[in-house]
Amino acid sequence: MCGIVDYIGDKQAQPILLSSLSRLEYRGYDSCGIAVSSSPPRRIEAYKDAVRVEALAKMVPQLGGTAGIGHTRWATCGEPSQVNAHPHCDCAGNIAVVHNGVINNFQRLRQQLTSEGHNFVSETDTEVIPHLIEKYYDGNLEKAVEAALRDVEGSYAIVVLMAGEPKLVAAKKDSPLIIGIGDRENFIASDVPAILDYTNRVIYLEEGDIGVVTKDNIKIKRDGTEVSRKEHKILWSIEEAQKGGYEHFMLKEIHEQPKVIRDTLGEYTSSAEPVVDLARIRDEGIESMLILACGTSYYAALVGKYIVEELLRIPVRVEIASEFSYYGQTLARTGAIVITQSGETADTLKAVKRLKEVGCRVVAITNVVGSSASRIADQTIYTRAGPEISVAATKSFTAQLMVLYWLAMGYSKADARRLATMLLGLRQLPSKVQQVLDNEAIILEHAKYLSKYENVFFIGRGINFPVALEGALKLKEISYIHAEGYAAGELKHGPFALLGENTPVIAIVAQDNTYEVMLTNIKEVKARKSPLIALAEEGDEAIGELADFVITVPRVDALFSPVVNTVALQLLAYYTAKERGCPIDFPRNLAKSVTVE
Ligand code: M6R
Repeated sequence: MCGIVDYIGDKQAQPILLSSLSRLEYRGYDSCGIAVSSSPPRRIEAYKDAVRVEALAKMVPQLGGTAGIGHTRWATCGEPSQVNAHPHCDCAGNIAVVHNGVINNFQRLRQQLTSEGHNFVSETDTEVIPHLIEKYYDGNLEKAVEAALRDVEGSYAIVVLMAGEPKLVAAKKDSPLIIGIGDRENFIASDVPAILDYTNRVIYLEEGDIGVVTKDNIKIKRDGTEVSRKEHKILWSIEEAQKGGYEHFMLKEIHEQPKVIRDTLGEYTSSAEPVVDLARIRDEGIESMLILACGTSYYAALVGKYIVEELLRIPVRVEIASEFSYYGQTLARTGAIVITQSGETADTLKAVKRLKEVGCRVVAITNVVGSSASRIADQTIYTRAGPEISVAATKSFTAQLMVLYWLAMGYSKADARRLATMLLGLRQLPSKVQQVLDNEAIILEHAKYLSKYENVFFIGRGINFPVALEGALKLKEISYIHAEGYAAGELKHGPFALLGENTPVIAIVAQDNTYEVMLTNIKEVKARKSPLIALAEEGDEAIGELADFVITVPRVDALFSPVVNTVALQLLAYYTAKERGCPIDFPRNLAKSVTVE
């Protein structure tokens, strides 16, 4: 999704904006641009196009100015093009604006402004903002921004730069925006990695905030009154947000998973406090649980259903957050959890707001400290995945599972012996995942084979059914191979029609109560001549006779099998995409954090 980064200080803005924009590339974008307020002469110099940041850096001449704004655009309103890229300016070219979000009433505003003599050049919703500011400007930029935003309906994170004004004005509604605090310099950005090179001191703007930022002062107002906002220290290091010698962020993030498991578990095992106050939930008479999420986080939630139902013995409903508004929700005595890596996914945030409206207590599991989800929820449990830059979620999924395991084990009704065995299993997981990673060269060979096909099925049963869904999502989003995840028993109810020698099937074969029936399903698939790759535990003799290829994973407690299996499928997707020459970290049309509904 769109990214914002802005600078005001003593240094030249241009190089800082361009290098920080490249830190935002992971969010996914199709165009980019910067504007710098030069002095003298006092004017805005803006350069933008439907190009990568690297190309933009080559086309921009040296600009003299110590305040500037930058943007990466992910097209929503108007195609990716030079005119539609941000920043957008007013008629006189004195006011430049970058914007994330959507202005819903922009058509009406545009007609009105046009009739008043304003001239529009782009198809975007954003362009109405600089024109509105121009209309209301009478010498006070901050007041003009406030007036303009009163006319606007929709979501926005905006930053305004005006020629001759030694300040940046920022405003936030339903789209994240942070202020980075430096020494005689300050930054504004849509997310932390953009400014980590320069500072780890951050303020999160809240709904309706307007921030006026100069090189040595930050003033935040809400409804006309000055407010104070807490400063957060970001613990992520810049190294964590860099590739560290790996060819892609995705591969680095896959390899970080043993550490992520250790960090997330260490966080909770060392804490004297319970992860979440389930005792209170019981006091409130909670009889069931609802988990909401999107994409990979949704699949983590589906695994969570199996974990919680087995260990807590309460019914768990898992819903896609974007669908949550469209059916009659029966939420009496229901405890709600939302899972979101970024904490900024618009569909998930909308669901949280709705849950709160109907009086549900909401626990958020998120990876980003201070994110919108963490601020709206009643309680937040942080995963310790570190910054996840690649669009494809990998280590965040594993960290989410760790939290769910820990949560469920903490309140489990299982007997002490079972829990002790599980705890041991959990502590061994980092080394088990490492074994999968050590098997990389073999997975690479299978990926070469898979890369020649255009349609693939992933099948699983029980707790590994969501793993099949996640395996298929990973493969399709980065390799562009059409992949579908299926409950193994469902293939015969329709998809069998598509099986044949050009449609490989990847079967996740767990050593649990699904094993025997899974072997039957595999035989059914083989009878339809589909090539079959099995993901099976070490020591499984039978599978070698049935499958064409076997990827071996270490033996773990069945409840933890989604972790090792998913890591193997992440590597399979990664190497398949690499073999096909795909832009792995930034797949086409996708964004890391999906901040529109
Ligand atoms: O930040 P979130 O966990 O809320 O993001 C949800 C999905 O957009 C995300 O998991 C997406 O499906 C990933 N790109 C999949 O790899």
